[in-house]
Amino acid sequence: MAVPGVGLLTRLHLYAQRRTRVQRPVLRLLSCPGTVAEDLRRDEQPSGSKETGFEDKIPKKRFSEMQNERREQAQRTVLIHCPEKISEKKFLKYLSQHGSINNHFFYESFGLYAVVEFCQKESVRSLQNETHAPSKGMEVAIPFRSRFFNLKLKNQTSERSRVQMSNQLPPSSKKLFEVLCDAENIDDQLNTLLKEFQLTEENTKLRYLTCSLIEDIAAAYFPDCIVRPFGSSVNTFGKLGCDLDMFLDLNETRSLSTHKTSGNFLMEFQVKNVPSERIATQKILSVIGECLDNFSPGCVGVQKILNARCPLVRFSHQASGLQCDLTTNNRIALTSSELLYIYGALDSRVRALVFTVRCWARAHSLTSSIPGAWITNFSLTMMVIFFLQRRSPPILPTLDSLQTLAELLLKEFFEYFGNFAFNKNSINIRQGREQNKPDSSPLYIQNPFETSLNISKNVNQSQLQKFVDLAQESTWILQQEHLDGPSISGNQPWGLVALLLPSGASRKSLGKKKSRKPANERIKVLLESIKSNRTENFTDTNGKRQISTQT
Ligand code: GTP
Ligand code: MG
Repeated sequence: MAVPGVGLLTRLHLYAQRRTRVQRPVLRLLSCPGTVAEDLRRDEQPSGSKETGFEDKIPKKRFSEMQNERREQAQRTVLIHCPEKISEKKFLKYLSQHGSINNHFFYESFGLYAVVEFCQKESVRSLQNETHAPSKGMEVAIPFRSRFFNLKLKNQTSERSRVQMSNQLPPSSKKLFEVLCDAENIDDQLNTLLKEFQLTEENTKLRYLTCSLIEDIAAAYFPDCIVRPFGSSVNTFGKLGCDLDMFLDLNETRSLSTHKTSGNFLMEFQVKNVPSERIATQKILSVIGECLDNFSPGCVGVQKILNARCPLVRFSHQASGLQCDLTTNNRIALTSSELLYIYGALDSRVRALVFTVRCWARAHSLTSSIPGAWITNFSLTMMVIFFLQRRSPPILPTLDSLQTLAELLLKEFFEYFGNFAFNKNSINIRQGREQNKPDSSPLYIQNPFETSLNISKNVNQSQLQKFVDLAQESTWILQQEHLDGPSISGNQPWGLVALLLPSGASRKSLGKKKSRKPANERIKVLLESIKSNRTENFTDTNGKRQISTQT
């Protein structure tokens, strides 16, 4: 997929070139034909590289390579609702009748589920051929041979053992604050937070499997379609519990209609035509939405949001516990995901910083899972990237300063945007510089691929002001940590814990006159809540968890 005019990424490439320790994997990421990365590679051919042994920290796969592998894996995988108590050994033996199993895991989501990946696709077919339709009760089952099964025990009393569960949820705020308090310094806290929140291998598999199950449904109409995950599920910035953005890719179907000449003849499909691309998108999504609602086991709460700027079908996939958004004709979003994937792979600190800023924003309700005038995670990620582009100099630091760089980055990120001239300047990721705002939107972040659009157009002045106030206060908190050192005594919260404490009413009066009191107050509140074990997870209406502390 060639994206016009992405020579902007040259800067990024030059940056990567200077960083010998990541050079190899970056080049590999950049070598996929027909992608953003390929355009980047054409812009700037690198000179020789040197292996330094740090490469294993960087994802080695190209975006498209990773997507294709995961998709193929998912096609060999089935989802099984299991009885409460099951013998893992017997379960695997039973399924192995259909072929060797590559791997499997169990998880809980209103019931016990197993994800089983066979070595061969044929095993799935064999299992489907052996599977019965549910026995008739009062209701009539709609026949559909999916890869989502229900396993029943013939002898209820025979199984007693419990299987080991894979966790699909983010840590509770209590656990998070405890592990953060145990960290050695703020740098360590950033990495701990990343480790606790990032998508696990199992969760990623579950996301690709869910796309694959939806693809089975969509394939009834569009046999060559591909349902591709995009957004934070694949761009390496996803937190456990984030939504699953899916893109119904009909390009394969459409490319069938590209002209193949044979002799004097040209054969075309008979098709129905509609006046615009948008109407075509709405019609396709409308039909797929109906199918999901009526025929797809486990898809509930299907909403067709067809009049949005980017029409979509939203639903819950009950078995995986994922909130899903299905779009089509949205290839740019896939390109943006690839761009972020590349940025995330350039330096391990990028992801740690983005995760922390996202958690900080969520803890203070700067972001929300409900659409509105607030900043989105996508915009925040772009702001972090812009900030990293604007660092002077944007090159490897000396060895001595490496240790403290991550925490410095966080402090300086807040400082940078706490003082950014949002009233007159826009953020331009293509050129890595500020520009005069083309309109009066409070926050203007140019869409890197559709340059006349602002990705944060929804943000109003008061939400932006809240962001700036919090950024200024957070600078101050980290500044104090820097001066005083981490206040490690017992389980006393410090560093990120202080930053992630929800803002209280006292924040409003903080203004520019900063005193130590608000942070201390919030730390006290947290300490008390941890001690009295009152810290809770709050789960919002979309099943996403928020970091929040009951006070
Ligand atoms: P989460 O909050 O973890 O879901 O982050 P996300 O990056 O997945 O964000 P979201 O689900 O809101 O959007 C999914 C993807 O759509 C993003 O990663 C972007 O690629 C794209 N996207 C979201 N908002 C915009 C926007 O305003 N403009 C453009 N061009 N793309 C957007
Ligand atoms: Mg998302």
